[in-house]
This record gives sequence, structure tokens and C-alpha cells, in this order.
Amino acid sequence: MFTLAHLSDVHLGDVGIPSPGALLSKRFLGFLSWHLRRKSIHIAPVLNALVADLRARQADHIAVTGDLVNISLPGEFERADTWLATLGSPGDVTVIPGNHDAYVPIAWKLSLGLWAAYMAGLGPDGAETPAAGLSDFPFLRRRGPLALIGISTAEPMPPHMAAGRIGQQQLARLATVLKTSRDQSLCRVVLIHHPPVSDPAYKLKQLLDSEEFLAVIASEGAELILHGHTHMSGLTYLPTPAGRVPVVSVPSASAKPTQHHDPARYHLYRIERQGGVWRIDVEVRGIAPGLDRFVEERGFVLEVPAT
Ligand SMILES: [Fe+2]
Repeated sequence: MFTLAHLSDVHLGDVGIPSPGALLSKRFLGFLSWHLRRKSIHIAPVLNALVADLRARQADHIAVTGDLVNISLPGEFERADTWLATLGSPGDVTVIPGNHDAYVPIAWKLSLGLWAAYMAGLGPDGAETPAAGLSDFPFLRRRGPLALIGISTAEPMPPHMAAGRIGQQQLARLATVLKTSRDQSLCRVVLIHHPPVSDPAYKLKQLLDSEEFLAVIASEGAELILHGHTHMSGLTYLPTPAGRVPVVSVPSASAKPTQHHDPARYHLYRIERQGGVWRIDVEVRGIAPGLDRFVEERGFVLEVPAT
């Protein structure tokens, strides 16, 4: 039995006091939005309670599917790096970027490069190497029976757009990685920030090459797809050659209850091969009404054909 924890959309507080020059971009709108609205939603007590609960559960591995920061300021990336260390070592934690982690163009070494060890993938020599740039995505990490496949949809977008794109190069590599890990009978868990299929009402927030991604999954399959971005709990399915793959989302890890989004939750996936199927027991843990601790809200079982 292997336990994988999934959380997303951390939106760490403390954007800091940027220099005026740093706000001469889309960041200005994001900075306003943070102070006028978002900072009252994504609050430290909720996130601290999640981390405490998660540490007590002692999962075998933790996946964080993006949006650790808000407006991609260098100081935010540094604080997120410090925060990641509270979750665990890079060997025990996998991170992929979200749209807020590429809010504006910014040098790799000042931004995502600080988290490169959490985005390390298997190199040709069989050793894990920290990502040297977005061109190293998708990356593959082997953990227990899992093939963790990290995709980047992070690409700076114009103001008011929170869309994402995988791109042709990643899609081609994704097909290869899915095929190779299927041949090794691994449980392939795909990590992606944007939902593979968006509600047409959210055009400005969608995955722009959703169709191409769906075509790769329809051809090569996967056993589980985990995403964030919506700040809502969700479960849908995509067709695969072996049947269908569950697509599961979690709300923001730091969100207090609001009218428009789900309160903070994270998931624990207990994964075990039983004959011809992967049995995946999902435990949903959510913030309690007092906003001081997480409790088990519910559970459900996914059964996926094993290859
Ligand atoms: Fe987000």
C-alpha cells in the first residue's frame, strides 16, 4: 500500500512590498486583487492546519499541483521554497507549477528554479536530476508502484487570463513517458495544474491545448490524473484504451469557506494493486468550521484497470 497526498493552490500569503518597477506589468492587477480580495480568503491559519495534519498522516509522498505564489515576485518564490521544506525533503515532495507561478515572465533561477529539486525527473542515466527549465517537463519520478508524471501548463498570459498550455514538445514526451511506464506496469499518476477539460464558461482560465492532451490520454492511457486551478473539489473521467481514468481535483490548500469556492481540502490516495486492478482508496480531509484543524470529511474508492 502506497499513500500519496495531494494538495494544490497554496497561494502563500505575504506578497511583500514590491518595488514600483516590479508592478509595471500584469502584477499590478494581481497585487490589487490580492489586497482587495484574495488575502482575506487564503489565510495562514488554514494552511498551517493543513500542514500540521498532513505531517501527522505521514504519507509516503506528497504532490503539490501549483499556484504556490500569487504574482510571481522573486521574494514569493523564496518564501515558497522555505514553506516547501516544512512539507518534506525534495525526495518526498513533488511540485509542478501553476499559472500564478508564471504570472509574468521571470528568470528561471529567480523563480521556479528555486524549487527545481522538487521537480527532479529521471535522466537517461537512471538518476533524478533537478529540472533545469520548463523544457525538462514532463518529468517522471518513480515512487513505490507509482510513476509520477509532472506536467507544466505554466506560461505567462495577458492580463485577466489564467489559461495554461502544455505545448507540442511536452505532449510528444508525455506520450512516450506514458507508454514506457505502462510497459513497466506502473500506476501512472499525471500531475497537471489546469483541469484537462474546462467549463466553457471559464474560457479565460482554460487549458488551451486540452484537445491535444485528451488525445494523448485516449491513446496511451493513465491510471489517475490530479489537478488544481478550479479551487473546487471535482471528479470526472476521461476515456482510455483500458477503460477510463479518474480526474480528481482539490480546492485551494489555504482557503477559508466562501460563497464561490470550496473550503480547503487535501486528499490521501492509498494505492494498491489487487490482481488486475489498482484499488485507490481516497480520503478527503477538510478544514473544520473553527479553521484550526483538518478532519476526515468522506472517502471513496476508485478502481482502475491495471496494465
Ligand atoms: Fe489557484
